[in-house]
Amino acid sequence: MLKKKKGLILSLTVATSILLATGCSSSTGGTDSGKGKDGDLPRVGATIYKFDDNFMSYVRRAMQTSAKDKVDLMLNDSQNDQAKQIEQVDTLIAKGAKSLAINLVDPKSAQTIIDKAKPKGIPVIFFNKEPDASVLAGYDKAYYVGTTSSESGVIQGELIAKAWEANKDKWDKNKDGKLQYVLLKGEPGHPDAEARTKFAIDTIKAKGIQVDELALDTAMWDATKATEKMDAWLAKYSDKIEFVIANNDGMALGAISSLEKAGYFSGDKFMPVVGVDAIPEALEMIEKGKMVGTVLNDAKNQGKATVELAANAAKGKDVLDGTSWKLDDKKAVRVPYVEVTKDNIQVGRDAYK
Ligand code: GAL
Ligand code: CA
Repeated sequence: MLKKKKGLILSLTVATSILLATGCSSSTGGTDSGKGKDGDLPRVGATIYKFDDNFMSYVRRAMQTSAKDKVDLMLNDSQNDQAKQIEQVDTLIAKGAKSLAINLVDPKSAQTIIDKAKPKGIPVIFFNKEPDASVLAGYDKAYYVGTTSSESGVIQGELIAKAWEANKDKWDKNKDGKLQYVLLKGEPGHPDAEARTKFAIDTIKAKGIQVDELALDTAMWDATKATEKMDAWLAKYSDKIEFVIANNDGMALGAISSLEKAGYFSGDKFMPVVGVDAIPEALEMIEKGKMVGTVLNDAKNQGKATVELAANAAKGKDVLDGTSWKLDDKKAVRVPYVEVTKDNIQVGRDAYK
């Protein structure tokens, strides 16, 4: 089992290095995207909160694909350091970025970025970490590309409720009629983490299922941290745990590694695990029966929308020009979430192709 995990980490590392190799060329000032004459293309300055994030590596790949031959995408790894990201924004502006595409490190830092861009009239497309609506409203050239965070929680809650109802004869181990869960939370204060946690549980309860929370803690979207948490929870609660709810697939995968070490998923020892994102590694687990399901967080379309809006903004056009995206009353493009189980696994596959 350990071997399998190493394989996963290795493949992510390989994917990351490929992305790094193609992604960094522009920010180092060399020839961009291998094209050699990106001087002609409008410059878009972009930051990812950290390259070492499973889901964001897919968003990044989609951004690079969409940018090809369209814009000179200057892409930076903010390494989970808000101060570093602010320096990167200064450099991007100095390098002549005509628009910015910003995946904040700290969702509360949107105003600081706007304070740098606004005096120069540079449009800012925030993505993935939603800034406060009031901050976006304060700059007419600021937009958001992401999702409706609560939707993922509601869909995950519905998925859990359905699976529980269908399997509670087996899954309600202590036969008390209640669902005893542990929850792996993403980054505290991140709108997705907060909303997924709240709405998943609220939705299960609204379906008439009683729940007991055995443990809830953050593993910062991270597989390794989730393995450590799950190890500790298994040591403390062992058989009392009836469901593992994770705010993202990365953490669900980390929990599965821990469960495998403890002998789960062999013989009749089973634990239902759910996540969000539908990254390919999670789809594999669903196929193998080690994950009940997930919620598609459409990396491809979010990356595409981000670049399309940023490209239009860089050219001084209406951000929606020539696209099929729509802005809501908060100046946000919201890509829908979709439930993914074994029954419609292709939906996830297609989205990450
Ligand atoms: C969420 C995603 C997580 C993580 C996070 C980073 O939308 O589900 O896996 O990537 O964004 O901000
Ligand atoms: Ca129970």
